[in-house]
Amino acid sequence: MISDLWYKNTVVYCLSVETFMDANGDGVGDFEGLSRRLDYLAGLGVGAIWLMPFQPSPGKDDGYDITDYYNVDPRYGTLGDFVDFTHGCKQRGIRVLIDLVVNHTSNQHPWFQSARSDPNSPYRDWYVWSNTKPADADQGMVFPGVQDSTWTRDEKAGGYYFHRFYEFQPDLNTANPMVQEEILKIMGFWIQLGVSGFRMDAVPFVIAEKIPGVKEAKEHFDMLRTFREFLQWRKGDSMILGEANILPEENLNYFGDDGDRIQMMFNFQVNQTLFYALASGDTRPMIEALERTKPKPGTAQWGQFLRNHDELDLGRLDKNQRQAVFAAFGPDKNMQLYDRGIRRRLAPMLGGDQRRLELAYSLMFSLPGTPVIRYGDEIGMGDDLKLPDRNSCRTPMQWSDEPQGGFTKSDKPVLPVISEGPFGYEHINVAEQRRSPESLLNWMERLIRMRKEAPEIGWGDFTALDTKDPGVLALRYDWRNNAVLIIHNLHPEPVEIDLDVGCGEQGRLLIDIADSQSSEADENSRHRLLLEAHAYRWFRVGGLDYILRRTEI
Ligand code: GLC
Repeated sequence: MISDLWYKNTVVYCLSVETFMDANGDGVGDFEGLSRRLDYLAGLGVGAIWLMPFQPSPGKDDGYDITDYYNVDPRYGTLGDFVDFTHGCKQRGIRVLIDLVVNHTSNQHPWFQSARSDPNSPYRDWYVWSNTKPADADQGMVFPGVQDSTWTRDEKAGGYYFHRFYEFQPDLNTANPMVQEEILKIMGFWIQLGVSGFRMDAVPFVIAEKIPGVKEAKEHFDMLRTFREFLQWRKGDSMILGEANILPEENLNYFGDDGDRIQMMFNFQVNQTLFYALASGDTRPMIEALERTKPKPGTAQWGQFLRNHDELDLGRLDKNQRQAVFAAFGPDKNMQLYDRGIRRRLAPMLGGDQRRLELAYSLMFSLPGTPVIRYGDEIGMGDDLKLPDRNSCRTPMQWSDEPQGGFTKSDKPVLPVISEGPFGYEHINVAEQRRSPESLLNWMERLIRMRKEAPEIGWGDFTALDTKDPGVLALRYDWRNNAVLIIHNLHPEPVEIDLDVGCGEQGRLLIDIADSQSSEADENSRHRLLLEAHAYRWFRVGGLDYILRRTEI
């Protein structure tokens, strides 16, 4: 039954416990605060929450440097608070996904401390060592400009250890069967505490063979199958959403030809071309990316997104395209990061213009896949470029116009709340937007409802219709005798298009899902549609009686 594959037709909301809501007034967000906000999230309509890392950590990479996989960092609460939270989610029909960061640990993790202290330690082979500095140590860094090597000498260990990311994040030797066992144990633990799956961090690096000096590292795709099987045995509806910024030709290796590896991946290819489309008004590279990422097994799914907690990585665009996005959305050096990306939130990139924000979210929500939004997106939160690195877009949630945006009673929030200026909490906050029917928040709630009521997008096949205008995208989705058509005008001015929807007789009538305008085809079966500047239109093809034609359970 299709509802079992819940991830095919839901909306995921990503948040960091640390910056969401502080209940005990110590300036740091916590599980109790988050639990108190579950009615807010349920009201918004989100189907799943993705929690960023919350395990004990020195916090040198925003929690992606873990020292204990089986606990909650005491600053956020206890395991008891965590279970209270997952229970609260269950009561409201919300699923929980958590980050699974197993490519590396913190260098403070007891495993690493033991491994470096003693060559005979049982944990020695849990990490990747070399007696001498490998010749390619200055290659393959994920954070160029901040990180200058992938191998660092540890005096105590008397050798070099491998770290794909920062030097305080030693890579686990994931080819070691003991490490693989431990990864399963970690998954099993959290599954037992009520989560429905994992956002798996850095998947290509987890599965890559890590041997000093080897140029073309072999990839152990079978590991992904092992993870999936284990999860499904333990809990049938659990899944993995992988972070893998890979080329489309690689996709099937990750999903598995028969859909026997990970269920979901973020679509980085589409994400970058989407920003290019927003910057240039040219949707052709995005259509190409959609086509290239089309082949996938039936149970697999894309996670579509706009901005996440990292930089907007533009590394897969060509030079001119990348320059166009930089020029439009991140012209200052201080807005850019790692020579490849932009460290801003979406709202400031679009000048806080609600019409353009609606266009961007409507576009993302209507791409083949499941939309993933980030806390604060629903109110158009801004960024703080005074903060270093990627922290610019990780500031606390803005709930109200009370001090610290209602995030905490402390006057020392864990990261500064954005204050003053067009994106300050004095103007941009939940309480204020809740009161106004036309606010971005209330609009987003309607968008989420609209998306959930169009399962064709999550399940169906798409066709990009010929609009004869690269600035106008028309996607039709077909699924089980039903079709929806979603049109976006990226131009800053109105345009008229003349469209053959296809679908035979059914395609003669288009009913607008969001407002009362419908369209009937002329004698040549073509629809003439006038689209306002930055317009987005969601149509049901062939009338509203689709409910009667729906056959799924
Ligand atoms: C992923 C995360 C990023 C983190 C890195 C190391 O890329 O998205 O935030 O720094 O992994 O764990």
